[in-house]
Amino acid sequence: MATIKRIGVLTSGGDAPGMNAAVRAVTRTALSCGMECIGIRRGWQGLINGDFVKLDSGSVGHILSRGGTILYTARSEDFMTEKGRQKAVATCKLLGLDGVVAIGGDGTFRGALELSRLGVPVVGVPATIDNDVGCTNYTIGFDSACNTAIECIDKLRDTMQSHERCSVVEVMGRNAGFLALYVGIAVGATAVLVPEHELDFDRDVIERIRESRLAGNTHFMIVVAEGVGSAVEIGKQIQEALGIQPRVTVLGHLQRGGSPTARDRETATRMGYYAVKALAEGRGNCIIGTQEGGIVELPIEEALAKEKHLQMDRYHIMETMQFGNWVKSAP
Ligand code: F6P
Repeated sequence: MATIKRIGVLTSGGDAPGMNAAVRAVTRTALSCGMECIGIRRGWQGLINGDFVKLDSGSVGHILSRGGTILYTARSEDFMTEKGRQKAVATCKLLGLDGVVAIGGDGTFRGALELSRLGVPVVGVPATIDNDVGCTNYTIGFDSACNTAIECIDKLRDTMQSHERCSVVEVMGRNAGFLALYVGIAVGATAVLVPEHELDFDRDVIERIRESRLAGNTHFMIVVAEGVGSAVEIGKQIQEALGIQPRVTVLGHLQRGGSPTARDRETATRMGYYAVKALAEGRGNCIIGTQEGGIVELPIEEALAKEKHLQMDRYHIMETMQFGNWVKSAP
């Protein structure tokens, strides 16, 4: 097995709270294994441009609790081209990188696969607030984003209750409803709209508000994953159907910021540690994940082929919490 002397670490795609904790873990584990660690700034684009910073133990001090990523992040068009990837390989050669740890989501890992095919060992660490990476049951940032959204919605509820209003809250999740559903359960939403559940507007929104009103409630909380459609439009449709005037809130990028929770700091630290161990032990082309709390490792290609589905029992539980046996859809 070739000895690894120097590795690179980068963050790519949408940022997520806990990315810094992962960068810190990668750096300090590498140093403890006698390797040098180079931070690649601005994701895959940084690898193409040779945009780097040397990391030592001190340079990753006091970042465990910080949101965002000290390495910056980007989505790179150039890396999607053969020419761009060849430039990235050239940077690895020039800097003497024997491997790279790439922290991000599925898009990042598709890049990792391409780079590994060109002979650079890459290990992926899943980090996205969407939690939509198939090979792991958890991605860094999800818990923090859920808690941020919950804190905001709890505040909204106070004013919705005082004014006896309906709130439509849009949370992130272009393709996945994990965030919306978890948050919806945690705030006791009247209805939750996710891309994975085909929407029957009358049944899933209008009837639920109506039943809630009949049960004595005078304020309503509708949580919408952005992938379902515009919260503003949903608000308008509610107004047309029921004659009430919903207030619309788009939580947007607020959900991606803030100090990571204990779960994200701890998971990021373990994943970062095992990513470096995998490189050190010659298992270069894999993605680190968690299953039932433990760390797992899968070859990148296999990992990318895995699908993760929203647990629809949770959808049913969310429905049940509002109205007991009123629920119409089967689990
Ligand atoms: O990080 C994933 C995600 O939060 C998606 O839910 C969302 O659609 C997307 O990022 C938006 O990111 P940006 O505005 O940075 O393109």
